[in-house]
Amino acid sequence: MTRPLRAAIIGTGAIAQAHAQAITELAPRIELIAVVDLDEDRARAFAERFAPDAAVHAEADALLGSGRLDLVHICTPPQTHVPLALRALRAGVPALIEKPTALSLAELDELVAVSEQTGVPALTVFQHRFGAAAQRLRRLVREGALGRPLVATCETLWYRTPDYFDLPWRGRWAGEGGGPTMGHGIHQFDLLLAVLGPWTRLTAFAARQALPTDTEDVSMALVEFECGALATVVNSLVSPRETSRLRFDFERATVEVEHLYGYTESDWTLTPAPGHEQLAARWAAEAQQGPDAGTRRSGHRDQLAAIVAALEAGEPPEVGAAEARRTLELAAATYASAFRGGPVRAGELAGDDPFLRSMDGGLVPWAPVKEVPA
Ligand SMILES: NC(=O)c1ccc[n+]([C@@H]2O[C@H](COP(=O)([O-])OP(=O)(O)OC[C@H]3O[C@@H](n4cnc5c(N)ncnc54)[C@H](O)[C@@H]3O)[C@@H](O)[C@H]2O)c1
Repeated sequence: MTRPLRAAIIGTGAIAQAHAQAITELAPRIELIAVVDLDEDRARAFAERFAPDAAVHAEADALLGSGRLDLVHICTPPQTHVPLALRALRAGVPALIEKPTALSLAELDELVAVSEQTGVPALTVFQHRFGAAAQRLRRLVREGALGRPLVATCETLWYRTPDYFDLPWRGRWAGEGGGPTMGHGIHQFDLLLAVLGPWTRLTAFAARQALPTDTEDVSMALVEFECGALATVVNSLVSPRETSRLRFDFERATVEVEHLYGYTESDWTLTPAPGHEQLAARWAAEAQQGPDAGTRRSGHRDQLAAIVAALEAGEPPEVGAAEARRTLELAAATYASAFRGGPVRAGELAGDDPFLRSMDGGLVPWAPVKEVPA
């Protein structure tokens, strides 16, 4: 047997626990050998809980340069993602970066360039692509089994109280890059794009309806895809009955999922069009074939399992930086369309376009409520 992949986690706050849990579940193929946090006490307590033998650091550079790592999980606030990932790539360490990958398309372009130069993968956490049902849907679409995709809806209707924004980076353009478009709905519309392929044009609105944020708390886009499908994408943090919902209408079936932060097989349905009833039977039969027979909730473990398998095989893992750019570009175009007015085409945000350099584009039509952190 080959040796386990050696992983480190930078940033041992809330989401790092999902990463550590995923590493634990995938042992012995991968092991957590080090953790890093500016708050060393927090890092120490985290190591004690998840990997008592792991080294603890307050700073990442020496660890990244040690030649001991096969993968580094970047679980810090968004404005630190690209600076840390660039240091990892330049040290030859593949980086798995929490969403949003970058604060802007320009920042992500630097990451894409360095990843291509060094040949070291820069991956984004988009875990909803990797659940068994989403993987099955993507395969059926690739095979053409469902016919042409015609129309889709993608809703992230979540609820956050004002104290959620007490963390200094949340709800600020400079810290989080945006509101529910960048931080929450991005999971759902990444899955929409993973199923439907490249988007070509959108028109959008954004508003700050209720929350004490500098960013939007609601956005809404109408999106056209290269495959011809049309979709609506709604992202909200002001919706008391929370749900994450995607619906795809293909020529031969409707496929839907409704969940909140992760789905099981029972959250998905396939409704066949008349004459295509065999698709429902196929969907149900394949749902029962996984090792957990459909009872496991999708999450970080699914993506990490795919990454470990790819690294073991010497293949490029999903979701690479160039692919993540398509998802981030949909967020940037949503803001550009909302704040500038009118449709935005894929590829249009280029050159000296202000929406390439920041998601707010300097055109936010409401006043900030928070001090920008130093
Ligand atoms: N994929 C998901 O479902 C999901 C869910 C929640 C959060 N996230 C993302 O995860 C990231 C972190 O969110 P969180 O809620 O865990 O934040 P958090 O504030 O709970 O934790 C961040 C940790 O990073 C540490 N840190 C900050 N800068 C650092 C640096 N330069 N070096 C080392 N440590 C540093 C902080 O001290 C803190 O312990 C965000 O990008 C967020 O959007 C993803």
